[in-house]
Amino acid sequence: MKGLLLAGGNGTRLRPVTMSISKHLLPVYDKPLIYYPLSLLMLAGIREIMVISSPRDLPALRRLLGDGTQWGIRFAYGEQPSPDGLAQAFLIAEDFIGADGCALALGDNILFGHGLSELVETAAERRAGATVFAYQVPDPERFGVVGFDDAGRPVSIEEKPARPASSWAVTGFYFYDNDVVRIARSVRPSARGELEITDVNRAYMARGALQVERLGRGFAWFDAGTHDSLLDAADYVRLVETHQRLKIASPEEIAFRRGYLDREALSRLTAERYAHTAYGDYLDRLAADVPTLAEATRHQSFCD
Ligand code: G1P
Repeated sequence: MKGLLLAGGNGTRLRPVTMSISKHLLPVYDKPLIYYPLSLLMLAGIREIMVISSPRDLPALRRLLGDGTQWGIRFAYGEQPSPDGLAQAFLIAEDFIGADGCALALGDNILFGHGLSELVETAAERRAGATVFAYQVPDPERFGVVGFDDAGRPVSIEEKPARPASSWAVTGFYFYDNDVVRIARSVRPSARGELEITDVNRAYMARGALQVERLGRGFAWFDAGTHDSLLDAADYVRLVETHQRLKIASPEEIAFRRGYLDREALSRLTAERYAHTAYGDYLDRLAADVPTLAEATRHQSFCD
C-alpha cells in the first residue's frame, strides 16, 4: 500500500504564523506537526509515501524529510498548485499509486491512543473497500460527519452539514483500495469549489464498502488547524511524553522498532542530527536499552 501525506493549503486560519511557513512545519511541542500523521502511516506499515504540498512549501518539506532513506522509507513529492480539495491528492499521485491501494493522511491531523497501531495495520491490510476513523466532537458541523442506523451501520456521510446527523466526525486518516483513483476522477467540485474527500467516501458507502471505525474513549484526536487546537495538541503531547517518558510520533523510533533501522544506523543518525538535544538523548536511550523500553511501551501503541 502507498501513502499520501497531504500538506497543502495556505494555512490562512493560522496567519500571521503561516505567512512564510507551512503550518505542517510548525512545532507541536518537540516535533514538526507533520511528524504525527507521518508516524501513523509508518505504523500502518507503509514505506512509500508521497508528500503533496504547494509550490511555496514543497522545498522546506523536502529539506525536513529528504528522500526517506534516513528512516528506511521512501518519499516522493507531488505539487498541488492550488488547494482544490483533498480528493485531488489521488489525481496528483495517480502514477505513484499505480496498481496499489492507498492511504491518505492529512498533514495537520494528530491521532493518539491505545491499540492504534493494530487498527491502522488492519485497515492497511484490508484488500477491498475503504476504512475511515470517526471521533465524537462537540462541533460536528466543522467536519465530515457520519450518520448511523440503529444497527450501527453507516448510512450517511456529509461534509460540514448545517444539521449534523450525529456527533461523529471523520478524522483525516483514510485507507482505500485502488478504485479510489477512478472514484476521485469522477468527483466534481462542491459548492465551496473543492474536490471533497467526503464524496469519495460516499461512493464507497453507496456500494457497502465503507468501514467506519469509531474511536471511543482512550483516543485523542486533534485537527491542529487553529491556534487553539495547535496549542492544545502541544500541551497534550508534552503531558503524555513527560508522564510516560516516551515519545509520541518519533519517525526514528518507529523505524527502529519496525526494524527499518538497526541499532548502529539509529546511533549514527542520532549523533549526526541530534547531538546535545533531549530528542537525541531519548533515541540514545532507545538504542541502548530496547528491552526495557519495549516492556514499557506495551501499554501504549503509538510507537510500538
Ligand atoms: C477535512 C475534510 C473533513 C474532515 C476533516 C478532518 O476538512 O473535508 O471531512 O472531517 O478534514 O480534519 P477541512 O480541513 O478541509 O475543513
